[in-house]
Amino acid sequence: MKLNFSERKGVFILSKRLLVLITVFALVFSLSFAGCAKKEGAKEETKEPEVIKIGVVTPLTGDVATFGQSTKKAVEMAVEEINAAGGVLGKKIEVVIEDDRNDPKETANVVRKLIDQDKVVAIIGSLTSKCSLAGMPIANAKKIPMISNASTNPKVTLTGPYAFRVCFIDDFQGQVMAKFAYEELGAKKAAVLYDIGNDYTKGLAEYFVKSFKELGGEIVAEETYQQADNDFNAQLTSIKGKNPDVIFLPDYYQKVSLIAKQARGLGIKATFLGGDGWDSPELFKLGGEAIEGGYFSNHYSQQDPDPKTQEFIKKFEEKYGEKPDALAALGYDAFYYLVEGIKKAGKVDSVAIRDGIEAVGKAGFSGVTGKFTIDENRNPIKAAVVLKVEGGQFKFVKRVEP
Ligand code: PHE
Repeated sequence: MKLNFSERKGVFILSKRLLVLITVFALVFSLSFAGCAKKEGAKEETKEPEVIKIGVVTPLTGDVATFGQSTKKAVEMAVEEINAAGGVLGKKIEVVIEDDRNDPKETANVVRKLIDQDKVVAIIGSLTSKCSLAGMPIANAKKIPMISNASTNPKVTLTGPYAFRVCFIDDFQGQVMAKFAYEELGAKKAAVLYDIGNDYTKGLAEYFVKSFKELGGEIVAEETYQQADNDFNAQLTSIKGKNPDVIFLPDYYQKVSLIAKQARGLGIKATFLGGDGWDSPELFKLGGEAIEGGYFSNHYSQQDPDPKTQEFIKKFEEKYGEKPDALAALGYDAFYYLVEGIKKAGKVDSVAIRDGIEAVGKAGFSGVTGKFTIDENRNPIKAAVVLKVEGGQFKFVKRVEP
């Protein structure tokens, strides 16, 4: 098709107009789009989450399930109280609870999941030292504060500045029991029997041995086993031959009850001693008569007259129909310690929350398991109690200040 000049000019004008129109349209479109994106980006930066999401990692199943169940109950009670009172910084708290089955590999998995998928700002847990030692390095690398309620091995908070706890540590606990044995029970000869593959039991055994020797006592036998072992007759026979006054068993309630039964079966009369791992109602059920008369160090006593402690016990009993054990009391303290840290931070930001927790710890925190301040490694300096297993109950014997 041939076009004359004016026709060609018309097409030219038309296509020019079209071009301008397209350009203007494209410009407006891209600007409005950019504006939109920018607005959303800006919103993202200043947007505070609607709720404060906190992760909990604890053994709800497995060999120390009562520890995790107690922790869960206490945490849920604390959350209810806090939310009923309006939350923290005007926001409600939401918890995501994960079961690590007291398996360090699982602890690592659930800590990653809580941080990467659930986007929690802080974590309570784990419970045993071996699990905290697996989870805390991850939380540290991701700058998420993690507060263990009950991991007592000294290495736990050395994993980094985001690692905290609300319990005393094992060098203190080992010393408390060594002193108690030597000075109050008049023991001169002690034996120890522990799980060589568990940081908690191994560490606690070592601290007990060191203190007992320093006091002038004699360690007549040091025997070990592995977690999978259930027959301790060989070790106990060797211990029996050394005739100790006391046998220190720094493991959790299941193993301790089993060992105690086998020891009594062999005719061993020595007094059994232990640490916080004994604290479970299952200890009497599984250990029965064999564990009667034993002593162990713990984080709190239900007979503590402190009004704050008694109020907690009362509330817990009303809610769950049972008295809280040390794990529940420590779980409750860990949660409130974190809440104080968030308040101190004044915003829902993990780095600020870490600083907040540290500041609260340094200034001093008062919980249902007592008061504490933290040392340079964020370890609470606080009292321990010695309890006696008597008539299927834990009787308060004494309180030991640090
Ligand atoms: N202290 C134990 C550990 O570090 C855990 C524990 C604490 C168990 C308190 C019972 C009571 O592994």
